[in-house]
Amino acid sequence: MELRRVSIVEVGPRDGLQNEKTPVATADKIALIGKLADAGLRRIEATAFVSPRWVPQMADHGQVMAGLRQRPGIVHSALVPNEMGAEAALAAGAQALAVFTAASETFSRKNTNCTITEGIARFEPVLALARRAGVPVRAYVSCALDCPYEGEIAPDAVAEVSARLLDIGCDEIAVSDTLGRGTPERTTRMVEATRIVVPPARLAGHFHDTYGRAIANVAAAWDLGVRIFDGAVGGLGGCPYAPGAGGNLATETLVAYFEARGIETGIDLAALEGAASWVRSLTERDAPEFSQHPIP
Ligand code: HMG
Ligand code: MG
Repeated sequence: MELRRVSIVEVGPRDGLQNEKTPVATADKIALIGKLADAGLRRIEATAFVSPRWVPQMADHGQVMAGLRQRPGIVHSALVPNEMGAEAALAAGAQALAVFTAASETFSRKNTNCTITEGIARFEPVLALARRAGVPVRAYVSCALDCPYEGEIAPDAVAEVSARLLDIGCDEIAVSDTLGRGTPERTTRMVEATRIVVPPARLAGHFHDTYGRAIANVAAAWDLGVRIFDGAVGGLGGCPYAPGAGGNLATETLVAYFEARGIETGIDLAALEGAASWVRSLTERDAPEFSQHPIP
C-alpha cells in the first residue's frame, strides 16, 4: 500500500521574512523557529547567508543560526549563494544548505548578478564544503513556470537546469513557482519534464500563492509523485528581485489540505496556526514591497 505521508519544509523564516518591510528582531526570528519546531516541522529554512546589501532583512543570519537550539530530529538549513555563504552558514551551525539558481537567465542576473552557468559553478565549492561537513544540499530552480522578465518558461529549461544541479551533486531539487502565476496544467507539464531527469523522491515543490492556485499546483505535483512541499507560516513571503511575486503558500493551508485528504503531515495544525498568528502580529501583512537593487 502507498505510504500516505508528505514531507513539509518550512521556509517562512527565510523566504517569508526576507521580504518583510517591518524589521523583525533576531530574538523574534529565533522564537518563531522554535514555535515551528514545537508544531512538528522537521525541516526549517532558518535564514539566508546572502549579501546584506542585497537582502538587508537577512543580515543577522549568523546570530539567528548560532542562536538556535539544536533539537533531535530537527534540521535547520540555510540558503547560500556561494562558498562565502556556505562557510559562514556551516560555522554558525547550519545542518543543511540550499543553493539557488533559475530556469531564466534574466532572473538569475537580477537575483544573483550572474548567469545560470556562473551560478552553478559557484555551487561546486559549496557542495565540497557540504560533503566534508556531511550535510545535504537542496537546490532551488526559480522561475520554473514564469519569469517576471522573460514570461512563460519552457518545461525543458527546468529539466535541463535540474539535471545540471543533480550532476554536480545536489541532493534535492526544489522546482519553484516564484511568481505564483502557475496553473495545475502547466505544473503538470513542468513536473513531467523534470521527473525524467530527477527521481520524484528527490523533487520538491515550492509554490508561491499570488493567485490562490498554489494548492491546485501542489495537487498536480503530488499526482506525479512529488512528496516534498514547501510552505511559509502565515503565507509570508516573496522574492525582493521578482516584481509581482506574492506570498508563499501558507504552511497551515498545506497541512490542512493534506490532513483533509488523509495524508499524514506529522504537524500539529493548532500549534502551527498559533505560530502563524504570532508572526502576523509582528509583521504588518501589507502588500509586498519590492526593493530595487541599483544594478540594472
Ligand atoms: P555581487 O554584488 O555580484 O557579489 O553579489 P560580489 O562577489 O561582488 O560581492 C559583493 C559584496 O557582497 C561583497 O561585500 C562581498 O563580500 C559580499 P563588499 O566587499 O561590497 O562589502 N558577499 C556576501 N556577503 C555575505 N554573504 C555572502 C556574500 N557573498 C558576497 N554569501 C550575490 C552576488 C550572490 C552575493 C548577491 O547577488 C546576493 O547576495 N544575492 C542574493 C539575492 C537573494 O537573496 N534573493 C532572495 C533569495 S532567492 C528566492 O527568494 C527564491 C526562492 O525562494 C525560490 C523561488 O521562490 O523561486 C529560493
Ligand atoms: Mg520562494
